[in-house]
Amino acid sequence: MNVMAVVLAAGQGKRMKSKLYKVLHPVCGKPMVGHVVDTVEQASCSRTVVVVGHGAAAVQSYLGDRAEFVLQEQQLGTGHAVIQARELLGQEEGITLVVCGDTPLVTVETVNAMIELHQASGAAATVLTAEFANPTGYGRVIRGSEGAVERIVEQKDCSPAEAAVREINTGTYCFDNRKLFDALSRVTNDNAQGEYYLTDVIGIFVSEGETVQAYCTSDLAEAIGINDRIALGEAESLMRQRIVRRHQVNGVTVIDTGSAYIEADVKIGADTILYPGTVLRGSTVIGEDCIIGPSADIADSVIGDGVTVRYSTIDQSEAGDGSSIGPYANLRPGSKLGKDCKIGDFVELKNAVLGDDSKVSHLSYVGDAEVGRGVNIGCGAITVNYDGFNKSKTVIGDDAFIGSNVNLIAPVHIGDGAYVVAGSTVTHDVPGGDLAIARERQVNKPGYADKIRSRAKAKKERSKTE
Ligand code: UD1
Ligand code: CA
Repeated sequence: MNVMAVVLAAGQGKRMKSKLYKVLHPVCGKPMVGHVVDTVEQASCSRTVVVVGHGAAAVQSYLGDRAEFVLQEQQLGTGHAVIQARELLGQEEGITLVVCGDTPLVTVETVNAMIELHQASGAAATVLTAEFANPTGYGRVIRGSEGAVERIVEQKDCSPAEAAVREINTGTYCFDNRKLFDALSRVTNDNAQGEYYLTDVIGIFVSEGETVQAYCTSDLAEAIGINDRIALGEAESLMRQRIVRRHQVNGVTVIDTGSAYIEADVKIGADTILYPGTVLRGSTVIGEDCIIGPSADIADSVIGDGVTVRYSTIDQSEAGDGSSIGPYANLRPGSKLGKDCKIGDFVELKNAVLGDDSKVSHLSYVGDAEVGRGVNIGCGAITVNYDGFNKSKTVIGDDAFIGSNVNLIAPVHIGDGAYVVAGSTVTHDVPGGDLAIARERQVNKPGYADKIRSRAKAKKERSKTE
């Protein structure tokens, strides 16, 4: 069966009170229209047409080649929006799935079940509905005495009796494509909002003797249409629960489900444990058997198997299997750790590649650096990569030892197995196997400690009497 999709995404979303167009507001890190397009893709639609208007360029550039686009220049209603797709889809035979761009929680399972019912019943239209305790704001599904759907009435057009109906239109539908475009040409804007309602197609079908079905979902989350920030917050927390549950089903332990913030596209391996305060964002991939958190913020990064990340932030970086990060480490973009590396407390890495088994255990800054395997960078050692104008590179060979509090003034190259003694400020390359010492030689002055104390004491006494 040929299934096509039309996603309505032209509205501005005035009730959001936002500079950002409504359908681009993220839910669990992904613009709501992205969730909707994910779902229609999973439902194997042959074509996806997105109706754009407000923020057309932004929506189009976000979705890219995942969809075809039609422009609705003026937002004259959801029916008018669908009509814009006529040029692309009008001649097609098959089923057209229409989804509002502001209902990101609708699932592919439900969409598929609705399509199945639609096909089995030979209906002209099938509406996805839900029963809300408080249906305010949604279109009401009005059924006749036999229980068949008769029409959908918008909140603003409801009589008191209609307003009391709790079954609502979720804004997701299946239509016979030809019949849809045919009926749309008979929709008028004679209603409280002066708009061409897509929902009027339902009443038109019924009056013309066509069958209309309703598929009522029991998962109320699916029905949420986001019109304001309150609904956005509700959708965020419902989607968050859904995502956490998916990872739990896949074998991830989540110690405190309420404090795990996992964005939609994050992948996590089995037997990984998420401690409270874990935020996993963007395209992050976490391996198996990891311990993440407490308090870890990881964005667009790839973490191997058996990695520990505690009280740390990681952005656009990679950590090899068996590595340990934190507490209190900051991995900025371009940090790449090999296997079994250790990044300890108050260490900042930026654009730094470390080979297997290398350690930066405390109080270091390593930026714009290429570090070999088995390297130890001592406490407080730093790369001096910036002269106020230029960034320069530090290269450290395999098995080198960088002592505590060393300054490596880049550009500089430390050879394999070299040893840089603590406190050195290194301005020249160190050949492999050499020892570099770049600090003042120590001088001890016998008995001088008492002398310096009594001088200091005398100075303090003088200042009291002045
Ligand atoms: C719509 C339905 C309502 C349903 C609710 C579910 C109609 C008339 N009403 O109401 O029955 O209960 O969704 O969430 O369809 N849009 C356009 N062009 C337009 C108008 C809207 O593309 O001219 C898009 C919007 O960007 C939005 C979607 O269509 O993504 C729904 O529009 P919205 O104004 O939010 O409709 P509701 O009042 O919520
Ligand atoms: Ca809406």
